[in-house]
Amino acid sequence: MTDVDVRELRNCFGKFATGITVITAIAPDGSKLGLTVNSFSSLSLDPPMILWSLDKKSKSMDALCAASHFAVNVLASDQMDLSNNFARTSDEKFDDIELTTSEFGLPLLAGTVAHLECSNINQIEGGDHIIFIGKVENFDMGHKKPLLYTNGQYTVAARHPGTKLAEPVEEDRSSSDEFIIPLLLRSYWEISEPFYKEIQDEGIPASHARILVHLSHSPALTTRELGTAVRVDMATVAMSVNWLCDNGHLNRVEDDKLVISEEGLSHLNKVQSRAERFEKEILDGYSDEDVNMLKSILRKLIYRADV
Ligand SMILES: Cc1cc2nc3c(=O)[nH]c(=O)nc-3n(C[C@H](O)[C@H](O)[C@H](O)COP(=O)(O)O)c2cc1C
Repeated sequence: MTDVDVRELRNCFGKFATGITVITAIAPDGSKLGLTVNSFSSLSLDPPMILWSLDKKSKSMDALCAASHFAVNVLASDQMDLSNNFARTSDEKFDDIELTTSEFGLPLLAGTVAHLECSNINQIEGGDHIIFIGKVENFDMGHKKPLLYTNGQYTVAARHPGTKLAEPVEEDRSSSDEFIIPLLLRSYWEISEPFYKEIQDEGIPASHARILVHLSHSPALTTRELGTAVRVDMATVAMSVNWLCDNGHLNRVEDDKLVISEEGLSHLNKVQSRAERFEKEILDGYSDEDVNMLKSILRKLIYRADV
């Protein structure tokens, strides 16, 4: 084939949906390097290897060729801004970015779906790109949904409507699966940990967020009244209230009563949109009919009356 229309070819390549990663490394001068990459692919399980390719025009080429290790940060669906941040040439890419440092001294981005720390074992010429091959030395992963990229746009994954949710096979069911209370408790344990983590990513512990939720739709309350309303012991609720007041989320009014502040309300909005997103993920694949029936039965259990 001759005279390829590069723009058309790029569009054609873009039909293939990918995840998005940020490759991070330390340059020989000790500065941090990071760039958005969707050419990442797994390569081998044994030995564990991955690859990705870098445009020969990249400003980071020399430093990446010289780096002994690099990290692959697999971005989550709420990290589109991070992808855009690391897709530009700038000395300020790492300003205000939440990081940890790996045992190889690599900068790891917080809140991602997964990290793979790799030794930089080979570079191969591939047309106008260089293919980097890494040996996976360490990896970790979480529960979040990945950020995807296709047709030049960011997208998120949804379960295909044609696939069924996995039903537990009969032998896997324990006898406690026959009783409603263990089922309710287990379903709570399964979703509460990732849910509280999601809420905490907004910057305040989930126990504090519950107080904000309650005060957003109640009149001013004393700390004691609040403890009774959210069913938390006095010592814990007093600690949460002090933290929320110190951080501007609550205001004390007359008679030492508490009201939610403007800042508290705006924080609550962010927490609630995260909670909504999380709930959508949890319920992905269930029909509206199933979801409504679940809600109705839970309400009946809570209020002990037909709802
Ligand atoms: C979704 C997306 C995927 C990208 N994938 C790659 C890639 O696989 N390889 C590459 O060299 N550049 C890729 N880029 C472009 C680089 O992130 C961008 O050119 C970056 O500024 C390069 O860093 P540098 O300024 O240090 O050269 C991608 C950009 C986006 C938005």
